[in-house]
Amino acid sequence: MGSRVGVVGAGYVGLTSAACLAHLGHHVICVDNDEAKVERLRAGSVSIVEPGLAELVREGLAEERLAFSTDPCALTEAEVVLLCLPTPMGDGGEADLEVLDRALDTLATVLRPDCTLVTKSTVPVGTAARLTEAPGLAGRAVVSNPEFLREGHAVHDFLHPDRILVGAGHGDTEAADRVAGLYAGTGARVVRSDTASAELAKYASNAFLAVKLSFVNTMADLCERVGADITRVTDTMGMDGRIGPDFLAPGPGWGGSCLPKDTHALLRAAEAEGVDFALVRDAVRANERQQAMVVRKIRYAVTGAVDGTLTGTRIGVLGLAFKAGTGDLRDSPAVAVAQQLCRHGVTVVAHDPCVPAGTPGLDPVHVVDDPYLVAKDASALVVLTEWPEFLTLNWQRLEAVAAQPIIVDTRNLLGGTTLGHTGFRVIGIGTGE
Ligand code: UGA
Repeated sequence: MGSRVGVVGAGYVGLTSAACLAHLGHHVICVDNDEAKVERLRAGSVSIVEPGLAELVREGLAEERLAFSTDPCALTEAEVVLLCLPTPMGDGGEADLEVLDRALDTLATVLRPDCTLVTKSTVPVGTAARLTEAPGLAGRAVVSNPEFLREGHAVHDFLHPDRILVGAGHGDTEAADRVAGLYAGTGARVVRSDTASAELAKYASNAFLAVKLSFVNTMADLCERVGADITRVTDTMGMDGRIGPDFLAPGPGWGGSCLPKDTHALLRAAEAEGVDFALVRDAVRANERQQAMVVRKIRYAVTGAVDGTLTGTRIGVLGLAFKAGTGDLRDSPAVAVAQQLCRHGVTVVAHDPCVPAGTPGLDPVHVVDDPYLVAKDASALVVLTEWPEFLTLNWQRLEAVAAQPIIVDTRNLLGGTTLGHTGFRVIGIGTGE
C-alpha cells in the first residue's frame, strides 16, 4: 500500500518525482500554480524533453495514482509533501527563497498536523532547520531529501539512483522512515544524516562536479599549448578508481539550471560563514574564461590571426542546449558563445534538434529547423552541444555550401570517420587540432 504524497511544483524535479512516485505505487497529487501547465498535464501532455516522463505521467493518470491541481487544498490528505519549487540565483549570487516562503505560507493553512514536509529541490543549508521553527508549520517534521537527477536522464536517475539521501532532526526518525519508505521500490541505498549535512551534500556534489570540469577545461588548454591530447590525458585519469571516468569531457563550459546557480550559492553561503572557498571561485572564473576562449578559437580558425576581425562573417552553430538530451537553454554556454559572436558583428545561424525556429530569447541568433541551412556561406561551423544527431549529418552536403571548410568542435564529437571524404579541417578542444 503506497503513501499519499503531495508534490508542490511541476517543474523538472517536481514532475519527475510525482510521475516516478506514482509509478512506484504511491498516490500522488502534484500542485502547481500555472493553470495552463496543469491543464496540459491533466491531458497527459508534457512539454519538457525527458525520455520516459510523458509515458509515466500518462500511466499515473490512467491508473488514477497521479493527479494535478492548482489548488493547494488538494494536499490536505497528504502524509508527505515534497517541496519542488525553484530557488533561483538572487542578485548577490545567493539562493532566492521567495517562491518557497510564499508557498509555505499557504501550505501552513492546509496541511495535516502530522504531515511530513520534504525539501527536494536544492535549498541552502539551514532551510530545514528554519522551516521547523516556522510558527505556521509547528509540529510538522521537515526532512531534507535532495534530488540528484540529471536533465535528460531524470526518470532513469530517479528510479535507479546512486543513493537516496534523507536528512532529519534527532526527534524525526519516524518522518525520516516515512520518506525513505517512498523509495523502497527502487531498491536504492538510503543514506541517513542530519538536515544540514544533507543540504550541504547537494551543494558539495554539484560544486565538486563543476570543479572537476573546470579542471579538465583548463587542462585541455594546457594540452593544446604543449601538443598533448586531452582525451588521452582524461582516459588515463579516469582509469583511477579514485577519480572515475565520468565528467571528464572538455567543452564550451558547464551550464544549465543547476551547476552555475549552486556554485554561486555555495560561495555566498561559505562567505557568510567566513570560509574562503577559493577553489570553487576559481572554477567559476575558469568557466567564464572558457566561453571567451571558444570565441578566440573561432576567431583564429576563421581569420588565421589572434586579433583578426569576425565582423561581417557568417558562422553556423550546431547546438544551443546546455548539453545533449535536453532542450533547456538556461545558462547554456552554447547560447552565450553564439550571442558573443553576434556582438562581434557575426551573423550566427544556429540549429538544435530540440530548439525550434522562433524560440524566444535567442535574438539576434537566427535559429533554423533545417541543419543544412547553418552551413550556407559559413566561414566556420561550430559544434557547441554534443547531440549524437550531428554525427549522422551529410557532411559533404554541408561542405558544398560552406564558405570555408572549417569546424570548431567544442565537444570533440566528430572523431574518426564521421566526416567521411570531406575536406573539413576540424579544430577540437585540447586536441592540438
Ligand atoms: C546536474 C548534476 O549532474 C545532477 O546530479 C544534479 O541533480 C543536477 O545538476 C541538479 O542540481 O538538479 P544537470 O544540470 O542536468 O545535472 O547537468 P549535467 O549533466 O551535470 O551537466 C552540467 C554541465 O556540465 C553541462 O553544461 C554539460 O555539458 C557539462 N559537462 C558535463 C561537460 O562539459 N563535460 C562532461 O564531461 C560532463
